[in-house]
Amino acid sequence: MKIFLADVQATLNLGIKLGQTLTPGTVILLEGDLGAGKTTLVQGIGQGLGITESIVSPTFTLINEYTQGRIPLYHLDLYRLQPLEVAGLNLESYWEGIEIEPGIVAIEWAERMPYQPESYLCVRLSYGDNSNRQADITGLHCNISELIAKI
Ligand SMILES: Nc1ncnc2c1ncn2[C@@H]1O[C@H](COP(=O)(O)OP(=O)(O)OP(=O)(O)O)[C@@H](O)[C@H]1O
Ligand SMILES: [Mg+2]
Repeated sequence: MKIFLADVQATLNLGIKLGQTLTPGTVILLEGDLGAGKTTLVQGIGQGLGITESIVSPTFTLINEYTQGRIPLYHLDLYRLQPLEVAGLNLESYWEGIEIEPGIVAIEWAERMPYQPESYLCVRLSYGDNSNRQADITGLHCNISELIAKI
C-alpha cells in the first residue's frame, strides 16, 4: 500500500494515526535512504501516543524508551551497526515483551537486522520529486488491510 507524503506534516500525520491505532507488541521496521523521513514518522507516532517529550533519533544510544503515552514506545536506530552486532542486541526481548512492557517497537535502518520478528509492519520511505516522500507499507502476519482502513 503506497501513501504519498507531500510534506513533513503529511509524514507526521501518518505517524500520528499509527500511534493512535497500533496495539502493544507491534514492530515497525523503518527502511529508506538517509533523510527519507524515518525519524519524522516516529515523531508522529509519539504524538499519536500522547508523548509530549521530544523524540530524537537514538543514533548513539541505540534505543530510546518513552513511557509517557498510551503504550510504551521503543525507538531504535541501527544505522551504526553491522548485522552481526545487531544479532548480539537481543532485540527480540522488545517484541516478545520479556521483562519489558509491550509497546510499539519502531526500528530505523531495519535493513541491518539479520532476522525479523514473526510479525511486523514495514514502512519503506522513499524520495519523490520536489522533496516530497512516499511511504510503502507492507506487513508480515499482521493485518494491514484492517490497519489501512483505520488510517
Ligand atoms: N514528507 C516529507 N516531505 C519533505 N521533507 C520531509 C518529509 N518527511 C520528512 N522530511 C524532512 O526530511 C528530513 C530528514 O527527515 P528524518 O530525519 O525524519 O529522516 P531519517 O530517515 O530519519 O534520516 P536518517 O536516515 O538520517 O535517520 C527532515 O528535515 C524532515 O523534516
Ligand atoms: Mg533517523
